[in-house]
Amino acid sequence: MLDTYVNWLNGADPTQYDWMNVENNLLPVLYTFWLCEARPEWTDTCRSFLLEGQCKSFEYIKNSCDKGAYECMQRFTSYIMNSYIKLDGGIPFRHYYENILAATQPTLYVHCHMVTKISLAILDELYRQNPDLLLYVNGCETMEGVHASIDKTREFLFYCGMFHDAGKLYFLDTINLFARSLFNEEFDLIRLHPQMGYELLNKWDSTRPYAEAALYHHLWYDEKSGYPREYTYKGNDNAILYQILTCADCLNAATDSVGRAYSSGKNFADMLADLRCNAGRMFNPDLVQLFDSEQLQQQIETLITVDREQLYREVFGKNVSLVLQSV
Ligand SMILES: [Fe+2]
Ligand SMILES: [Fe+2]
Repeated sequence: MLDTYVNWLNGADPTQYDWMNVENNLLPVLYTFWLCEARPEWTDTCRSFLLEGQCKSFEYIKNSCDKGAYECMQRFTSYIMNSYIKLDGGIPFRHYYENILAATQPTLYVHCHMVTKISLAILDELYRQNPDLLLYVNGCETMEGVHASIDKTREFLFYCGMFHDAGKLYFLDTINLFARSLFNEEFDLIRLHPQMGYELLNKWDSTRPYAEAALYHHLWYDEKSGYPREYTYKGNDNAILYQILTCADCLNAATDSVGRAYSSGKNFADMLADLRCNAGRMFNPDLVQLFDSEQLQQQIETLITVDREQLYREVFGKNVSLVLQSV
């Protein structure tokens, strides 16, 4: 059986992205993942093929970014992501995820990148104005610890931003491709993405630290609205970071109309008014107060206009590598 899969994969052309070649490049690996999931004792027998297949499929997915093969790739990548098997010497799940996101959901990739940039701008302003609010974040019990680990906190928030919408990779078309208003049932589906993202990220060491970012980013500050509501910020040391994500997520989503069937594309001034109006309800008031800073306002206005447009050009332009930038 394994020989059949080895031959199948060896016969695939890794430079082609039509339906048949996408199947040939990805299905042998996916089937082997499934077999090993059903019969874990086979994992040892299949180990070298799994390792080779994992590397090949990773390269194939990565190289598809500028091929425009979103539709063919989407059919398999959520299965691959969900059936991923951790192997010594294999590709860490985090890298798989990053490239699947870039290869199959470019608009969501831009959104996640924008959420990281906006979140970091808010965090930097918070650190300048009110660093006390970062006490206990990621286990820092003293202000010395807060100052010493601010770079680590920035890096943590960067990845929280990149992974916050991981659950959306399960229902690609509903979110990004319909040029119409969504049905109520589709909104119900979308409301599941924090929990789905949490469960996905929680499966593997390389993404587990960011699982809560996915879970909390749509929960309102007052916990009276948003979703999923069965969770609470109380007792969560990183609550302030997830509340930053909520602000950044809304700021970006509400001001961007590209590929988002449910967004009207507000301007920054309207969004700022919304932030202030919902301080204490949807948004943490300490964070909203930071927006009194003209420097932060200007920084975010530039991010959601000039910088976002540039990012869209890069992502949808030819010959552009979508490898993640570091913080
Ligand atoms: Fe979300
Ligand atoms: Fe989001």
